[in-house]
Amino acid sequence: MALGPASVKNEGTKEFDFTARDFERVRSLIYRRAGIALADSKQEMVYSRLARRLRATGIRSFQQYLDQLESHADSPEWEAFTNALTTNLTAFFREAHHFPILAEHARKKGGPLTVWCSASSTGEEPYSIAITLCEAFNSLTPPVQIIATDIDTNVLNTAAHGVYPFERVEKLEPERLRKFFLKGRGEQEGLVRVRPELRQLITFKQLNLLEGGWPVQGPFDAIFCRNVMIYFDKPTQGKILSRFAPLMKPDALLFAGHSENFLYVSNAFKLRGKTVYELNQGGAPVRPANPGKLEKML
Ligand SMILES: C[S@@+](CC[C@H](N)C(=O)[O-])C[C@H]1O[C@@H](n2cnc3c(N)ncnc32)[C@H](O)[C@@H]1O
Repeated sequence: MALGPASVKNEGTKEFDFTARDFERVRSLIYRRAGIALADSKQEMVYSRLARRLRATGIRSFQQYLDQLESHADSPEWEAFTNALTTNLTAFFREAHHFPILAEHARKKGGPLTVWCSASSTGEEPYSIAITLCEAFNSLTPPVQIIATDIDTNVLNTAAHGVYPFERVEKLEPERLRKFFLKGRGEQEGLVRVRPELRQLITFKQLNLLEGGWPVQGPFDAIFCRNVMIYFDKPTQGKILSRFAPLMKPDALLFAGHSENFLYVSNAFKLRGKTVYELNQGGAPVRPANPGKLEKML
């Protein structure tokens, strides 16, 4: 992995010293743990997110924090460290063109249907999938199973809870709002909760896409893997895609984020439409990922 030089200026204005070496250590640890490739431009972000961990643990320097982390492979701080460095931006019906494609796929196939949402963040994506499939089957209890996973345990808790500030849903069509959400009253004023029927369609689990032995079982009718591959380098993307392929039914769909192009990383898939892929049946064997250096870093 080729990583450029980093320099961090403290200029006496920061609460904690954060040296270029500290940043390199963080970068290498999160890359090894979660596959996340941090660009030089993320130094400020890393400082502010991990400074909170230093305050929470009472540790007075980055060097000491990182020393402790590295010398305790089983420390619960690893989870907090990883949670702090993930970026969880998401929204209900984000990249909205995917959902009618999923609905049509579901109507054509009929049930039962299994969908894996592989970087589900705070839940807006798997609940959007659930709403789409309820609408497709015209039922609040469609023959559907959704597995929603993420590496970040904080966002999974939020997702499983299914409670959101009203602003997160205010742009949804009023019909959807009425049908799929309950409005909070009293102390819950300003909040909405997804209907329990939606919640029951989804199983939330922690899953690190980088690790072996994923706790999910295919074959899936669709996999959503949106806006997470951008955090990984191409060899990592290629490895993940080659593990998705055998978990998919022959006619399954793979949904990617708007800036993610899987054609250059794996020949297991072909493009079916805008950022929607299907298996490349009978194609050449899955191309091994190019073990070159990082080609895209955030
Ligand atoms: C930007 S959010 C995208 C959420 C959603 N898929 C969407 O498109 O709106 C990226 C998510 O990927 C998760 N993530 C990052 N690295 C991961 C890994 N190695 N395994 C599983 N999830 C990961 C983060 O925790 C975060 O919730």
